[in-house]
Formats: sequence, structure tokens, C-alpha cells
Amino acid sequence: MVPLKRRKLTAAQTENQDNKVCKFPDITVYIVERKMGASRKAFLTRLGRSKGFLIEETYSSSVTHVVSESNTGDEVQAWVNNHTEGKALTDSIHLLDISWLTESMAEGGPVAVQDRHRLKTSLKSSEDTPSFTVKSYACQRRTPLKHHNTFLTEALEILAENAEFGENEGRSVAFRRSASVLKALPYAVRQMDDLKNLPCLGEHSQRVIKEILEDGSSREVESTRQSAQFQAMKALTGVFGVGVRSADRGFREGLLCPSDLIRTGQKLNKAQQAGVQYYDDLNRPVTKQEALAISQIVERAVNSVLPGSIITLTGGFRRGKEVGHDVDFLITHEEEGVEEGLMPKLVNWLDEQGFLLYQKTTRNSYLESKDGPARPPNNMDRFERCFSIFKLGQCSEDSSAVLETGSDDSGTTDNVNGTTRQQPGSSWRAVRVDLVVSPFSQFAFATLGWTGSKLFERELRRWAGQEKGMSLSSHALYDSKQQRYLRANSEEEIFAHLGLEFIPPCERNS
Ligand code: UTP
Ligand code: MN
Repeated sequence: MVPLKRRKLTAAQTENQDNKVCKFPDITVYIVERKMGASRKAFLTRLGRSKGFLIEETYSSSVTHVVSESNTGDEVQAWVNNHTEGKALTDSIHLLDISWLTESMAEGGPVAVQDRHRLKTSLKSSEDTPSFTVKSYACQRRTPLKHHNTFLTEALEILAENAEFGENEGRSVAFRRSASVLKALPYAVRQMDDLKNLPCLGEHSQRVIKEILEDGSSREVESTRQSAQFQAMKALTGVFGVGVRSADRGFREGLLCPSDLIRTGQKLNKAQQAGVQYYDDLNRPVTKQEALAISQIVERAVNSVLPGSIITLTGGFRRGKEVGHDVDFLITHEEEGVEEGLMPKLVNWLDEQGFLLYQKTTRNSYLESKDGPARPPNNMDRFERCFSIFKLGQCSEDSSAVLETGSDDSGTTDNVNGTTRQQPGSSWRAVRVDLVVSPFSQFAFATLGWTGSKLFERELRRWAGQEKGMSLSSHALYDSKQQRYLRANSEEEIFAHLGLEFIPPCERNS
């Protein structure tokens, strides 16, 4: 047995060795536990310390060499960043493979860092991340179509969609706002520190983001994605004409997919019948080329019923999207008033030519004097509008030319043609098309309102109301202080009325 005095001395010596008997004061090592495990880390720490290396238990700003085993540089960087309360790795720190430490211990001192020791990283450290301020309303920001944080925004949007299925609008908008902020960042988020000073990121969104940064995925998002309810709601609301309410009712009755609507003999309205009939086509993204082909048809139709009309492709395609779920058109004529009665003629023409598989037209119910500045519920606008399903012939590869489908071959004089269910390899496909007719005086507001994105529109209205005391719709802008409508002939003028910098359509992808 070791005498008491001796034992005390040994303990003191060991302690000293850990701290004082540090032979290489310029080097502070931190060993990453990830993949290596706690016991191997403890063993290497003891061994290293016994050779005179200063090895820190926790990461701090004094660390100069981070060593790890079987990790990539990116993994180490992400792991360290997330286990150090946001103390970011800086470029002056060596990210090294364990071989550097074992070689150094064998040599009895730190060996020069060589390329083969270095872990390769593709990530930029936070010092390279420019400080960037993000305005809090989406309509104050430029949001490009392609951005750097898809892996985070897709996850947040799953939660937003799920909240919509549960008719929890507040929650859904909160997730959409968070996602939208990330879309506007000029860099990829790698660590929670990158989110400092950003607006709109609620506690829940931050928790989800943190989990994804640390573990690669979020349990909540994954379990939502896999849940039977979410999948059924997605499939059922994917049927044209089926909204969240009917889908939810269907799910509660045990319906899981569109074919269950038929199998169980659900009572379907005309839109829903068409939705089921053309389900596959309508859930296949519409390409830009197909949108342009439909534009040509609509232009020809409009010009033959009201020459001189102006036709604008709105919605996602105007924002530069390559694919969409439908094709949106806004139609007007410079001569105010002549657009009245245009829609029925247009629909007739299209139907006679065999382009319509389904259509439902709603009349223009907007009257400034009657509706006043109050916004209609759900911000539904009141234009004359045609929800339709087009029958589009195959697009040729090189141009937007279409093999048009003749009326004899389509037989689409009925609103829903029950006899022309598309076959695989068919020479045509069904495409959802929205046609909207606007009086010229409202055209700028309608263009702005129909270009989207939905969140951008929502934020424009919120900005108008909360920041400017104004009320914006797709028809008009009303200034409550001045108690008058503000007229505009272009989107630029509307932004100016609202005291906003003009954001072009391709940067409204919030
Ligand atoms: P969409 O639903 O067509 O979305 O609405 P999108 O941005 O074009 O995307 P995809 O590719 O089709 O999915 C287009 C715009 O029209 C407005 C929406 O607010 C959106 O900005 N809109 C839509 C209305 O103003 N009223 C409506 O009833 C429907
Ligand atoms: Mn659209």
C-alpha cells in the first residue's frame, strides 16, 4: 500500500501534469468525441496529456487543433459548431485527422501539419458569412427562386402544410414566414449562430432548424411526413375540387387516396369528378413549355373574341418558375368596359375548339362603390374567373408548337367529359388553367395580386394594413387616412404608394 504522504504527492503531480507539465504551450488540442466514443476519447486524452500535450475537455476559443477520427471536415465543423453553444470554428483552427495526434505522440512532440492530416471541408466558417440584415416583411425582401437553404425550408414547409391540413392558419403562416426568411439569405445556414438577428424565426422553427443542423433531420418533420393522416390529406387535397374540409371528412371516414373516393361511392361534384378523372395528369407538374403552348392557345382565343386584348401569364411562371401546378392568365383591354362579356365568349371559343375538359366560370362580383375598402373574406378576389382543365396536345421538343386536339376527337361539349380519360402514352394531357378577366383600371392590382407568391401577397396586405393604414386587394388600394383610393397603372406605382422598394416578380418567391 502506498503511504499516505506519497499518495497525496502523486495525486498532486498528476494534476500538475494535466495543466502545468504542458510542454507545448502554443498548441491546445480538442478531441471530437463523435464516432470515436467517450472511452477512446478519454484514453487518447490521458495518453496525450502524459506526453505533455495540452488537451482540453471542452471546446473553447483557446483551442488551436481539433482532431477527430472517421469524420469528414464538414461533419466535424457542424458537430463542433453545434456542441459549443455557437462558438464558431475559425479559419485559424486546424481541423485534423487523429493521425496527426498519434504521430505527434510517437514523435514526442507536435509534428508539422501536412495536407494528409487535414480534413477537407466544403463549408465556410461563420467568419466568412457576411453579416446580413433581413427585413421582417417578405414584401421588403428579394427572394430568388433558387436559394441556399432548401434542406431547411422544405422541412419547415412540411410543418406549414400539416398545419394547413389542421386548419391552423396562424401556425402555418409562422412556419411559412420562417422558411421565407431562410430563402432570402445569401448563404447556407450551417449553425444556429448564422440565424442571429434574423426576424420571424419563432421558437418552434428554431428548434426544428437546430435539430436538422445537428442530426441531419427533424423527428417532428419526419414523423409528420410519414404519418398516415398527412399522406392521406396530401393525396386527397391533391384532387382538384377537394379542399381541406372535405379531405379531412374523407380521412375520418377511412379514405386514404383518390381512388377511395370512387370505390366508396362518395358523392362528388362536377369539379371533384374531373379532379379524380384527371388526377394523374393534374398532379404531374406543368412545364414552362406547356405553359407557353397554352399561352398561344389563349392568345389566339382571346384575340378572336376581343382583338387588342392584353394577356399576361401570371402566377409562378411569371416569377420564373420552371414548373407549376397550373397556368394562370390575366386578361384585360385598354378600353375600360369592353372586357365585359369577354369570358363567356372566350370559354365558348375554347370549348368549341375542343380545348376544355372542364370549366366553371364565376362572375365578376366586385363593385368598388358597394364593396368599398373592406376586403372580401379569405382575400378571394371577385374577378370574373374561369377555373378550367385544358386538353393540351403533345408539345414538340423544339418549340411551343402543339398538336392541337380537334373538337371531333375530344367531344368536350359537356363540362366534364366522362369518355376521354387519358391513357398512358396518350397524345394529350390535362392541365389546370385559371383565366381571370380584369377591367383595365384594376389591371395593375390584379397583376400584382395574381403573380404571388401566396406569402408575398399576404405580406403585402399585412404591410399595407399594419404599416401604412391602407387596404390592398387584387382590385384596389385604399388609403384609410386620406379616405380615398390610390390609383395605379403599374406594379411599380403600387409599390411606391406602399412606400416599398419595387421587387421584380422573379424575386417574389418568398
Ligand atoms: P397559384 O395557386 O396558381 O400559385 O396562385 P402559383 O404561385 O402560381 O404556384 P403554382 O406553381 O401554380 O403552384 C397564383 C397567385 O394567384 C393568387 C395567389 O395569391 C397567388 O399569388 N390567387 C390565387 C388569388 O389571388 N386568388 C385566388 O383565388 C387564387
Ligand atoms: Mn399557378
